[in-house]
Amino acid sequence: DWTMAAYRDEAIARIREQVGDAKVICGLSGGVDSSVAAVLIHEAIGEQLTCVFVDHGLLRHNEAEEVVTMFRDHYNIPLIHADEADLFLDELDGVSDPETKRKTIGRLFIDVFQKHADTIEGAAFLAQGTLYPDVIESVSFAGGPSVTIKSHHNVGGLPEKMGLKLLEPLRELFKDEVRALGRELGLPDSFIGRHPFPGPGLAIRCPGEITREKLDILRRADAVYIDQIRKHGLYDEIWQAFVAILPVRTVGVMGDSRTYDFACALRAVTSVDGMTADFYPFSHDFLGETATRIINEVRGINRVTYDITSKPPGTIEWE
Ligand code: XMP
Repeated sequence: DWTMAAYRDEAIARIREQVGDAKVICGLSGGVDSSVAAVLIHEAIGEQLTCVFVDHGLLRHNEAEEVVTMFRDHYNIPLIHADEADLFLDELDGVSDPETKRKTIGRLFIDVFQKHADTIEGAAFLAQGTLYPDVIESVSFAGGPSVTIKSHHNVGGLPEKMGLKLLEPLRELFKDEVRALGRELGLPDSFIGRHPFPGPGLAIRCPGEITREKLDILRRADAVYIDQIRKHGLYDEIWQAFVAILPVRTVGVMGDSRTYDFACALRAVTSVDGMTADFYPFSHDFLGETATRIINEVRGINRVTYDITSKPPGTIEWE
């Protein structure tokens, strides 16, 4: 008779056996997978775990604070908050090519992670929230045709480089099972049900050059959009929703003056696994109300569009 509670206890016993009294480092992204992995490992080995949260300055509104509050203050998990926004944003200055953005962020991410991980004496394991589909995907990619649409952001190759063994306690689980395990471990539902968020963060929702000004506008527009979706009770019906800020200013009118501000695109899709997706059929009322709120509440945006591209031929993210 299989239950998630029994699975949790077994997983904890396995982690204890594998790790012994060694120290473990876990990269925390704020996403569901790495969070569940961290809480599970913390239950198993407590203070032997240290989490490293690389904050690249490309997170959503309040996201970094939420991660730090939850893990450090609520769960009491030793956490290094590597606030490296300046490093990432300076290096990304003037970069508009999507693959160059991804590679730059991936490279800096590994540097920063390693720098902080090196300060943890006696670390022998690197923990990752790898899921079963990730395991399968890398296997089939290795044998199949290699067509890279987007280079994915991960820390592949890092464990060997750092002389660490891998600890992947979620390797047998699918996404819905990870969510169930997270609930079993007491993570709040609002957190477990969060939409996926890509490793390169807002960088790939800001086509063209990334500036602090654009990121700031994007964060505020995204927060209004997500608030609208939650208020209308649609959040859980949608796989992923976000705003992309477009690299174009357009003319508008506000009161009796002319504006010349950024246009943005709203994105919302349904999907089972992110591999294919359909745009979400919002009502015209919802779209109209949301556009009005964004333009009224977010200085810097004067035009809102809705992206009605499905995947394929589009991708979910804009870059
Ligand atoms: P695309 O845009 O390729 O995205 O249709 C499919 C899913 O993957 C997420 N995504 C990423 N996740 N690192 C990640 O961890 C990445 O570099 C990355 N790129 C895309 C995307 O948000 C969607 O859920």
